[in-house]
Amino acid sequence: MSTLPHGGAVELSIAPRAAADDDEAPEEVGGQGPTGRPKRHIPEPALLEHHGPARVLAMCNQKGGVGKTTSTINLGAALTEFGRRVLLVDFDPQGALSVGLGIPAHQLDRTIYNVLIERSVGIQDVVIRTCVENMDLLPSNIDLSAAEVQLVSEVGREHSLLRTIRPVLDEYDYILVDCQPSLGLLTVNALAAADGVLIPLECEFFSLRGVALLIDTIDKVRDRLNPKLEITGILATMFDPRTLHSREVMARVVEAFKDTVFDTVINRTVRFPETTVAGEPITTWAPRSAGAKAYRQLAREVIAR
Ligand SMILES: Nc1ncnc2c1ncn2[C@@H]1O[C@H](COP(=O)(O)OP(=O)(O)O)[C@@H](O)[C@H]1O
Ligand SMILES: [Mg+2]
Repeated sequence: MSTLPHGGAVELSIAPRAAADDDEAPEEVGGQGPTGRPKRHIPEPALLEHHGPARVLAMCNQKGGVGKTTSTINLGAALTEFGRRVLLVDFDPQGALSVGLGIPAHQLDRTIYNVLIERSVGIQDVVIRTCVENMDLLPSNIDLSAAEVQLVSEVGREHSLLRTIRPVLDEYDYILVDCQPSLGLLTVNALAAADGVLIPLECEFFSLRGVALLIDTIDKVRDRLNPKLEITGILATMFDPRTLHSREVMARVVEAFKDTVFDTVINRTVRFPETTVAGEPITTWAPRSAGAKAYRQLAREVIAR
């Protein structure tokens, strides 16, 4: 593995698979992690003898472009490497999660929208297998934007997603819900259905601004709809260890949220946009890359929490 920094050269074309896999500095062993804290010991995930009931995690931040969808795909894929069965729920009308897994969501006749709105459609009719073994997808497309309006007049409108996923809770170990960038009714549905929230936070100056509002929304949902809801962790994304700016933002995030911040930090790398084009997770596209290793480490932390 090379210890030289990448030198900032951005590849313009898609690198062939398996080439230049180790494109980032090697992970430090022991001592301080990128969060500036000593790294905690994370136990080896236990083998499972049976599957379910699923732990539902909402991947949530009302800011766009912070790594929610990327983290949903790659955390999901990494969890399957530890023998977990995973369902990914695309809960954003943009359908980026579906597209990121190579599924042409705009061509689908039935999506999560139909399960939410039509009583005759069950979740099993819509869930599809992905290119990753043991990882399924409940796809979405632009139809879902109509659901937000239609659900407003429903009885128990905040629990529509929970009703949707309840029949399959026993089939999976983790259900990851990729939320849209807003704190509207769909996101409230995700929080009402979740056991925990995972907040991806970009290591940029303005990223902390919206977090207080997000945490306030989480507190309200816990009080009024879902007493078991907790914050599973804050994931620092798009970290650039070479810039003082990134390190300063990281220090503020750790100061503000302490142990809630995962030890695992996701570095900024062109590898992630590449995987979106490839339509597969980084764990299979570039299995030995630093990005793949980071999401495996995150999976271990999530299992341990
Ligand atoms: N660690 C990263 N480094 C560089 N680019 C990233 C990283 N994570 C995500 N991206 C890219 O940033 C864009 C936004 O990420 P995405 O996961 O779609 O965010 P969100 O779902 O929060 O809107 C995408 O083009 C994605 O490929
Ligand atoms: Mg997204």
